Amino acid sequence: MTDKIQPTDSYKGVRDFYPDDMAIQRYIFDVWSQTAESFGFERYDASVLEPSDLYKAKGAENEEMVNEQTYTFIDRGDREVTLRPEMTPTVARMVAGRRRELSFPVRWYSIPNLFRYERPQRGRLREHWQLNCDIFGATDYTADVEIIALASQLILNFGADSSLFEIRINDRTEMRSKYREFGIEDIETQNAITRLNDRFYKISATEYKIALEEIVGNGTAVEQIYTLVSGGDTSDTNKVVDGLKELGITNVKIDRSIARGFNYYTGTIFEIFDVSGENNRAMLGGGRYDNLTEMFGGEAISGIGFGMGDVTMRDFLETHDLMTANITAPDLMVIPMDPAQNLIAQKIAMQFREIAGLSVATDISTKKLGKKIGDASEKLVNYVLVVGENETKDNTYTLKNLNEETTVTGSIEDILKKFTDGDL
Ligand code: HAM
Repeated sequence: MTDKIQPTDSYKGVRDFYPDDMAIQRYIFDVWSQTAESFGFERYDASVLEPSDLYKAKGAENEEMVNEQTYTFIDRGDREVTLRPEMTPTVARMVAGRRRELSFPVRWYSIPNLFRYERPQRGRLREHWQLNCDIFGATDYTADVEIIALASQLILNFGADSSLFEIRINDRTEMRSKYREFGIEDIETQNAITRLNDRFYKISATEYKIALEEIVGNGTAVEQIYTLVSGGDTSDTNKVVDGLKELGITNVKIDRSIARGFNYYTGTIFEIFDVSGENNRAMLGGGRYDNLTEMFGGEAISGIGFGMGDVTMRDFLETHDLMTANITAPDLMVIPMDPAQNLIAQKIAMQFREIAGLSVATDISTKKLGKKIGDASEKLVNYVLVVGENETKDNTYTLKNLNEETTVTGSIEDILKKFTDGDL
């Protein structure tokens, strides 16, 4: 026990969600789930706890992630446990567990909270929520097109214009065959180039070439790879990019510098960026992983999907002024003039909830009337209705629309009728 006064701050790198933040969070989750479901995706979930082996097993293995970026501990039964840093191994485990019953392709989505022991900075926290959409058991490239079309629609459905973001696509199989064309056959050397490409835009061209020379030890290959990764090869094609264009999605390009951190990706890989430059983190990243379910035995089921974070999503919405203001306030605030009218105000509130279907709160504080109306207006409440001694005596109330500055006067029944008739 400590008798030191405890701070009211949250733990480093995680967030409290006060009602204003929660309203934004819910708005983001609602748009996410409605959009995923409009593409026929079904929701699943799982525990935040996983055996650490899930992330250490061959196929899933990501050294940086497991050793440096997870919250891992030993439980009372001597088992090594990890707070999930991503959802992909979990969903692969769940799909593999039901492989006989499921009718493929399956389209699943989830909005898990994930934990990564990172240095907190803009766009990067230690706990975030991430929409995960994945298709299992479809190997045709049109599944890649579909999943990226969904990713794009997810951003458009917040009211964003397609000029605000860019979809960048690469393909690990294509990259490997290009490396082979340049005479680089060794898989480990290819993997080292992928890791270097992940830093392509973080280092200068000279630094990149020096590091590349160290990996491949061959000047011609260095120039060939540099031309490819920097986008200098105009003959470069990719059918997923072409497929998306067919669907009318044109804010998309091949970007050979897209590397993605996870080892499990085998084919298409992609990221979506805010083009404003203010949010330099990817909003979304994903790809195709053909072999991940192998670690659970049996023949592997191919998956393709992405994760989209709530932190980067909120930064994007705020940067582009896409946050709808009135997502937290009740429609109507019933305001008793003094505490003697509190109960009758609550009774009126019930009628408006039940009959007019409004969200209604009552201001039962001891503030002055003017202050109560001011508070309601500040909260972006649409209507206020004042309940005083005279109003109750005469059964005549005034409903004020704060946005339009109009009023309606009459009995509670009259005002309710105006709502049910659709006049208000
Ligand atoms: P990821 O690139 O690590 O991919 O994360 C996807 C997105 O989650 C990022 O683009 C970013 O928006 C958000 N994100 C990641 N880490 C953080 C963090 N520390 N703080 C805030 N936001 C973050 C994956 O996790 C893959 N498992 C996605 C996937 C699903 N691939 C196939 N299916």
